Amino acid sequence: MLQLKRIVLSTSFLAFAPFALAQDEVAQGQKLFETQCVSCHTVKPGVNGFGPSLAGVVGKPAGKAPGYTYTGAMSNSGLTWDEKTLDAFLTSTTEKVPGTSMPVALPDPHVRSAIIAYLKSISAAPTAGPTPVAPVAITKPSGRRTSSRAPRRAHATGSTRARITRASDL
Ligand code: HEC
Repeated sequence: MLQLKRIVLSTSFLAFAPFALAQDEVAQGQKLFETQCVSCHTVKPGVNGFGPSLAGVVGKPAGKAPGYTYTGAMSNSGLTWDEKTLDAFLTSTTEKVPGTSMPVALPDPHVRSAIIAYLKSISAAPTAGPTPVAPVAITKPSGRRTSSRAPRRAHATGSTRARITRASDL
């Protein structure tokens, strides 16, 4: 029920809520990417298919993915991929970069902007693994844990005992 409300809200406020719009666009763009682009591209760094890896492509100069052999048309295009150049390229790749080996045309501006939003989101995200939250949580002893250890330490010095007593008081 709550979820349903949220969906309705984000849809009706699309035009007024840039953040909701941005998130919706990224999700939409990912779906579109998966149907229109993954046959030739991955978003994993260094993993090229028929087309080059698109990991971090936004902000990069065209024709520079490591280990991929581009057409001369692409590597000499002098383009840097940003919203504008990607939008023009995806509108008609062969018009923007005559001689490219990527024959794609996306006439719908919403499709293009969603895919570009997705490409931006994966370009901004760090490729590192999960953050080390868990170890921090483990080293923080809970009050209960401290008191369960207390009996074993009861033979320790008075100052240790005093510290334990204080910790379990917390
Ligand atoms: C039929 C296979 C194919 C499909 C489908 C395809 N591409 Fe490509 N793409 C390529 C090839 C091949 C190149 C390299 C072009 C060249 O060297 O001229 C390329 C290059 C690119 C580049 C330039 C990358 C760089 O490093 O400069 C971008 C950006 C790109 N594609 C985005 C997309 C997006 C977004 C989609 C989905 C809408 C898509 N491509 C769908 C084959 C494809």
